[in-house]
Amino acid sequence: FFSGGGGGGGKTLLDYFSLVILCHKLQESMLSSASSFRNYRGVLNWCVVMLVLSNARLFLENLLRYGILVDPIQVVSLFLKDPYSWPAACLVIVSNVFIFVALYTERKLAMGSISEKVGLLIYIFNLTVILCFPMVVVLKLPSITPVGGAFTLGVYTILFLKLYSYKDVNRWCRVRTQVKARSLSRSLSCPSSPSASSCMQSHVSYPGNLSLRDMYYFVFAPTLCYELNFPRSESIRMGFLLRRLFEMWMVPIIRSSMKPLQVCSCVPNHLIWLIFFYCFFHSSMNFVAELLRFGDREFYRDWWNSETITYFWQNWNIPVHKWCLRHFYKPLLRRGAGKLLSQSAVFFASAFFHEYLVSVPLRMFRLWAFMGMMAQLPLAWFVAKFLRGNYGNAAVWLSLIIGQPIAVLMYVHDYYVTHCQDDPTITEAL
Ligand SMILES: CC(C)(COP(=O)(O)OP(=O)(O)OC[C@H]1O[C@@H](n2cnc3c(N)ncnc32)[C@H](O)[C@@H]1OP(=O)(O)O)[C@@H](O)C(=O)NCCC(=O)NCCS
Repeated sequence: FFSGGGGGGGKTLLDYFSLVILCHKLQESMLSSASSFRNYRGVLNWCVVMLVLSNARLFLENLLRYGILVDPIQVVSLFLKDPYSWPAACLVIVSNVFIFVALYTERKLAMGSISEKVGLLIYIFNLTVILCFPMVVVLKLPSITPVGGAFTLGVYTILFLKLYSYKDVNRWCRVRTQVKARSLSRSLSCPSSPSASSCMQSHVSYPGNLSLRDMYYFVFAPTLCYELNFPRSESIRMGFLLRRLFEMWMVPIIRSSMKPLQVCSCVPNHLIWLIFFYCFFHSSMNFVAELLRFGDREFYRDWWNSETITYFWQNWNIPVHKWCLRHFYKPLLRRGAGKLLSQSAVFFASAFFHEYLVSVPLRMFRLWAFMGMMAQLPLAWFVAKFLRGNYGNAAVWLSLIIGQPIAVLMYVHDYYVTHCQDDPTITEAL
C-alpha cells in the first residue's frame, strides 16, 4: 500500500495521510436529543431481557410452589358456571342471524326490491337489537359469568361496528353508481385503488360483493371498516403464524408470574396492560390477518411516542380510530358540525361503549369507564396547552400508568362491595 506499486502509489499515500490526519468532526453524542440518532432497538431488547430476568425468579418460585398456574379448567370456569349450559357460546352463535339480516337487506336494496328508507329502517332495527339483545340476556341470565358476558358483548359490539360500516360502504357504492349513471359514464362498478388491484387475485365490484363468502371474510377480518377488495398478502407464512401463536400462549404465563405483585402497586397492572396490548394488537391480530391473508397490518402506530393525548387516541387502536374517522367523525364534519362538537360526539360514543362493555357484564352501573373516557377531552386540552415534547410524553404515560389502574380499582372495589363481601373464598383471593 505504502510503496504504491506503479505510478498511482504516490497518490494513494497522499489520500491515506489526508484521511488519518483528520479524525474529529463537529457532532453530537448519540444519546443527546440534538443528535439525529433514533435507533433504540438495542435498548428495547435490553428492557425485554431485564423484564424476563426480573420475572424469571418469580416465575420459578411460583412454578415450584403452585405448579403450572394456567389451569385449563380454571380458564373455562371464567366463561362457564355450569358445564351443561353455554349461554355465551349460544349468544355468539345467535349473532349470525344479524349478519344474515344485513346481507339479505343489502341484496334487496341492490335489486331495488326495497327503498333506501325501508333499508335504513331495517338497519336501525337490526343494529339496535344487536346492542340490546345481548345486554338483556347478560343482565337476566345468572349463569353468564362476567368474563363470558364481557366476551359476548365484545363480539356483539365488534359486529355492530362492522355491520354499520357494511351498510355505509354499500350505500356509498349505490350512490356512486347512480351518480355515474346520471353522468352517462360507461363504468357501472365501484373503482378500487390502482395500487391495491395489483396484489389482488379476484377483483369484486358492487353488487358482486353481496355474497356470504365476502360477508364472512369481513366478519372475521381484523378490521372494522368494510371494503370491497381488501389488500391481500400472497401466501400464509407458516413461521410468522407460529411465532404469533407462541406469543399468544406466553401471555397467561407472564401474567401469572406477576400475580403476587398485582395488589402492591399500579405498575404491574400497567405492565399487564402493555403485555395485553402486544398480545391483542400485535400477536392475535397478525395471527388472524396471516391466516386470512389480510394485507393491511397497521393495527397500531407509535402511540408510545405520544406527546399529546390526541396523538395517543389517533395511534393506539387503529381499527377503532379508522372506523371513528370514516363512519362518524368525517360524516359529522361534512354535515356542518364543528370540530369540537364532532370530537366530543366521538368520545361520547366511545365512552358509552366502554361503559357498556364493563358495566353490563359486572351487572353494576358506576360510570367510571364513561367518565374516564370523557375526561380525555379536558386532559387533551390541558396537555396540548401546557406541556410540550418529553413533558407531554411523560404526561401521556402518567395518565396510562395511574389513570387506568384507578378505574380498574374502582370497579374491583365496587364489585367486591356489592357481590362478594360475604363470600369468604373471594375475600381470601382478593
Ligand atoms: C375523535 C377522533 C376521530 C379525532 O381524530 P383526529 O385524527 O384527531 O381528527 P382531525 O381533526 O385531526 O382530522 C382527521 C381527519 O379529518 C379531516 N378533517 C378535519 N377537519 C375536517 C373538516 N372540517 N372537513 C372535512 N374533513 C376534515 C382531516 O383532514 C383528517 O383527514 P385524514 O385522516 O384523511 O388525514 C379521534 O380522536 C378518535 O378516534 N377518538 C376516539 C378514539 C377511541 O375512542 N378509541 C377507542 C380505543 S379503545
